[in-house]
Amino acid sequence: MSWNQGSPKANFCIRTLESCGVGNRPVVPVYNRYAYTMSQDSGSTRKLIIAIDGPAGAGKSTIAARLARKFGYVNLESGAMYRALALQAIENDTSFDDETALVKLADSSRIQLEPTISGNRTLLGGKDVSVRIRERDVTEGASRISVHPRVREWMVSHQRAMGAGGGVVMEGRDIGTKVFPDADLKIFLDADPVVREQRRMAQQKIAVEVAAHVAAELRERDRRDRTRAASPLVAAQDAVVIDSTAMSEDEVLGKIEELARARQGGRTV
Ligand code: DC
Repeated sequence: MSWNQGSPKANFCIRTLESCGVGNRPVVPVYNRYAYTMSQDSGSTRKLIIAIDGPAGAGKSTIAARLARKFGYVNLESGAMYRALALQAIENDTSFDDETALVKLADSSRIQLEPTISGNRTLLGGKDVSVRIRERDVTEGASRISVHPRVREWMVSHQRAMGAGGGVVMEGRDIGTKVFPDADLKIFLDADPVVREQRRMAQQKIAVEVAAHVAAELRERDRRDRTRAASPLVAAQDAVVIDSTAMSEDEVLGKIEELARARQGGRTV
């Protein structure tokens, strides 16, 4: 299976979180729907929190989605929340550099993640923005707003609320270091930068004429992720680092599945 294909399975999960604050009321995360059919795998075993971190293009999203389906877990893409806030900033003419305004905007926004059988949906104010948030202006904005410590605090508190019950595969940049430092299993998925760029180009069907430009933007976002003062992208000390450069998607998935099954049984391999 290529890095860009998912494997559909009859295991349906849906969990949404509304993160909204109105006026000066505190922000209260509310699960407004939570229903999911357990796969035979999840049975009565312990529901883990699995954190998958790493740079863009390492294959996190595909692996996290497939792993979640295998275990009957919910797959939450933390990056989609940064993207949704960046889109909200664009639509409200809020500067990506104005931390205070961004946090205010986050408080008054309704960002929902909705994992479904056909992939994750992101809703902003009830509108499906899943496709829009992958566009280049939002991608750039998400990277820029993610440097602000208070924006990150806002995100982390909501992400914790979403994953607290376990049975979740959450992917991002700081899940194992900040969001769930006690996660049952932490994976840091990495790959050679050139391979990551190639995967990203193929995934997004980037035209040859703009490929060099898009690759340069990816490198800049990488640099920003790794060098920002607040929660830079690093592997947690107790993370299992997997370099997927020369591995197939199935091999990576198999390795993580083995680790997760061991953790379910209380073992470390
Ligand atoms: O994973 P992604 O490309 O969708 O993430 C979008 C941006 O959000 C990315 O530039 C880094 C940032 N991000 C972050 O700082 N921390 C996370 N946990 C997830 C994403």
